[in-house]
Amino acid sequence: MDPHAPGGALTEWYARDGAALLRELGVCAGDTAFDVGCGDGQYVLPLAQVVGPQGHVTAVDRNAQKLTALRARLESAGLAERVNLVSGDALDVLAAAAADRFDAALVFDVLQHVDDGDALLAALARVLRPAGQLLVYPTEAVHPGRVPMDRLREALQRHGFARPQPHRARIAHSGGLVDDTVYRVGRA
Ligand SMILES: C[S@@+](CC[C@H](N)C(=O)[O-])C[C@H]1O[C@@H](n2cnc3c(N)ncnc32)[C@H](O)[C@@H]1O
Repeated sequence: MDPHAPGGALTEWYARDGAALLRELGVCAGDTAFDVGCGDGQYVLPLAQVVGPQGHVTAVDRNAQKLTALRARLESAGLAERVNLVSGDALDVLAAAAADRFDAALVFDVLQHVDDGDALLAALARVLRPAGQLLVYPTEAVHPGRVPMDRLREALQRHGFARPQPHRARIAHSGGLVDDTVYRVGRA
């Protein structure tokens, strides 16, 4: 069964737990948020719930097919107006965004797919407000795409970010739920 469909594995996540986690991580009503490589939208729907009608979410993925399915789910949840779904490379979309535009940027399970991680962090540093924060899931679980934390810490420091603050949580990952560590990263 499709984990994203009503009654699927992520039912509670979409109804309650996803939004609760994002609030714990500091996302607030009225925020503007950017989701890098949003995929199936496991974090887009909760982001749209949390930012509310006064907030806004920009979610980018280079897989247009995933965005078509996600658009339908956002519409049936009544959340489509809060979300700008963009098909393309996140780096191009960030390059076109105004500086100091976002309160939060999610980089979940995506760093291992990005060709130039340094360019991505530089672009995110430019578009985040001074009090804004990155939320990063570097996929520390045993996983072929695992991103070593020591390398990530160094890269974040190079781009003016503070030390990542770990937050242990049950999170949506690949259509299921896993216990793992996500990181909040503010400006240095
Ligand atoms: C493993 S999925 C993670 C999806 C989502 N962030 C999550 O945690 O559920 C990685 C996604 O990143 C997208 N992606 C990878 N590099 C990208 C890039 N440079 N620009 C936009 N999307 C990208 C892929 O198409 C894929 O949907």
